[in-house]
Amino acid sequence: MSIQYEEEQNIFHLKAGGMSYAMQVVRGKYLAHLYWGRGIRSYEGSRSLIQKERVLEANPESGDKSFSLGTLPQEYPQYGNGDFRSCAFCVRDEAGSRISSLSYQGYKIEKGKPGLPGLPASFGKEPEAETLRIHLRDEAAGLDVFLLYSVFEKENVIARSVCFENRSQKELMLEKMMSMSLDIRESDFDVLTLYGAHNNERNPDRRPLKSGTIQIESLRGVSSPQQSPFMALLRKGTKEDQGEVFAANFVYSGNFQALAQADSFGNTRFQMGMNPWNGEWLLEPGESFWTPEVLLVYSDKGLNGMSHTFHRFIRNHLIRSPYGKQERPILINSWEAAYFDFTEEKLLALAGKAKEAGIELFVLDDGWFGKRNDESCSLGDWYENREKLPLGLHSLEQKIHSMGMQFGLWVEPEMISEDSDLYRAHPDYVLHTEGRPYTYGRRQLVLDLSRQEVCNYVLDAMEKVLSLAGIDYIKWDMNRHLTDVGSAFLPSKRQGEVFHRYVLGLYWILERLTANHPEVLFESCSSGGGRFDAGMLYYMPQTWCSDNTDPVCRIGIQYATSLIYPPVAMGAHVSASPSHQTGRISPLSTRGNVAMSANFGYELDLTKCTEGELLEISEQVRFYKEIRNTVQKGAFYRLENPFEGNTAAWEFVSEDGREVLAFRFTVLCRPNAPVEILKLQGLDEEARYQNAKTGEIYGGDELMYSGISIPPEEGDYRSGCFRFWRV
Ligand code: DGJ
Repeated sequence: MSIQYEEEQNIFHLKAGGMSYAMQVVRGKYLAHLYWGRGIRSYEGSRSLIQKERVLEANPESGDKSFSLGTLPQEYPQYGNGDFRSCAFCVRDEAGSRISSLSYQGYKIEKGKPGLPGLPASFGKEPEAETLRIHLRDEAAGLDVFLLYSVFEKENVIARSVCFENRSQKELMLEKMMSMSLDIRESDFDVLTLYGAHNNERNPDRRPLKSGTIQIESLRGVSSPQQSPFMALLRKGTKEDQGEVFAANFVYSGNFQALAQADSFGNTRFQMGMNPWNGEWLLEPGESFWTPEVLLVYSDKGLNGMSHTFHRFIRNHLIRSPYGKQERPILINSWEAAYFDFTEEKLLALAGKAKEAGIELFVLDDGWFGKRNDESCSLGDWYENREKLPLGLHSLEQKIHSMGMQFGLWVEPEMISEDSDLYRAHPDYVLHTEGRPYTYGRRQLVLDLSRQEVCNYVLDAMEKVLSLAGIDYIKWDMNRHLTDVGSAFLPSKRQGEVFHRYVLGLYWILERLTANHPEVLFESCSSGGGRFDAGMLYYMPQTWCSDNTDPVCRIGIQYATSLIYPPVAMGAHVSASPSHQTGRISPLSTRGNVAMSANFGYELDLTKCTEGELLEISEQVRFYKEIRNTVQKGAFYRLENPFEGNTAAWEFVSEDGREVLAFRFTVLCRPNAPVEILKLQGLDEEARYQNAKTGEIYGGDELMYSGISIPPEEGDYRSGCFRFWRV
């Protein structure tokens, strides 16, 4: 049993994989957090909850000065009666009061993992998962709160979400509704988050938690490259391969907030959920509201341990597409090869070269529709541009298919250009606030997906695109963030819902489109990796990692992205040198090694490559086909951190443990440098491994503990791949 309830002490003990999570109902009313960490057989309460009188803390019970909600470690803390830390939720009643008093009502244990209405969510059937539903009630407000904990038997994962139900006869305004809150009775942590920008996504930021709060958020309407919806607490001294990690990742693509708050008594409040700023929700009598879910992951094997859990979990319990389990095709994308400037002839020439190199999927990026010759127009006009494609998309697709390649197409369905037939017909479709001027991003406006009519239009438009031609792949782009957020169709008291309604609208469309077309491989994109989150991965099994394809930058971006997401989820392409983003000149071999460490493709004009380059590309494609199964389904280890030095390295071990691939990168060449070594991980100590190139055989223990010498090479941006077979 993954969920145990001990009646005498009112303790819930959740066991997931190798971890335990314990809670207790205190004084018949309050839900306290007891423990989250390494698995223990049975939680008896040796570390009792000692409360003592602390001056200036408030007491909910008059006769007992020792008991205070301000110092009690809690699971879902409320506002207004003595807990002065960040509350997990806040409800405003019709009288304007924000005070809540929840009291425990009971619990239920269900087999399996329930879905969340209208939201992406992890899945698992019995016996993979079991769900605890704890019922709390605020009698005065007439509010029921259900805390959901889904425990995955074989994984160190608990998925948490919350449901609010208005059982009163009055309206309730939900002002804050975190998906997860817990209080750890320790505070000596580092906090790890990922920050960045366009072309510079996901840089790790590790800082000590001192007094007060470390908080990250997005108010951009999307999860954003500025801050990933992820936060981890790291025990001091935690490294890649050792130490304890307590991580939270949000299965949501909109505004979010995550925080770690250290109080004055050595406790840490850890929270994640939708951003409360401009994020209210009006709950009518009888209505319910579900928060998106948070995945809680525990590791006692450092950051690599955390990543292994996330990677396996995302592949097996989050990505819904049948492609989640299938090998992904090697693609050529037309964007950096041609941008907006192409003809059918040019595309076919590119496809021809790609086919010769063994590439499997041709993707026509932006510029194929309306009169789109630059970014100023046509978003919304999803029909072929007959000047560029006089015979239409269908004819192009047929030619590509007859070459023996798959055909893919770029779309940006959430947007509208002012210069478009769609805008001329439906200017009201724009997300905007009446009487205010528009704010532009990439010269475009956002469709108001908080409106069902607009969602219907987008779904219909995309169904038409998919019927234009035989389409095997869709790249779903989103190139600006939300501004002027408001709705002429909602009453003033519902204006705070528009951000979330936008995301729900997007999910409504994706739910239907991806279910109607399971045969289509979807890749999400937002000016590169600007909406790389677990919510999007639920619908679309891969995400374009960054517009920055410079291999030196990509080493860091892919390294840090792998903290949460498996390499198969990261689109990674070889592009031209000098790089279009940085101007850097780099070897084709290194561009290949970086891109083939993820979901591999190309994005350059192959018709301009030399014979030598084309040969090398064919060789890369051939090699990737050989290693694809291991890269896309194997276990991934980060070996050397590019954010800490001049080198980076990572390794893949195939599911059956037979194949080992280590990639190593040196940024700048150092003259007369020491000989460097690389130590592998994840091998069988007792087994022997043969170097695929040299035939030499070594023990797994030797490769891991003594390591491999790296032959010195001249020149900057060098890299190598070491491949071993277990013999
Ligand atoms: C942004 C994407 O990240 C690029 O890959 C490309 O598709 C452009 N949009 C096209 O406008």
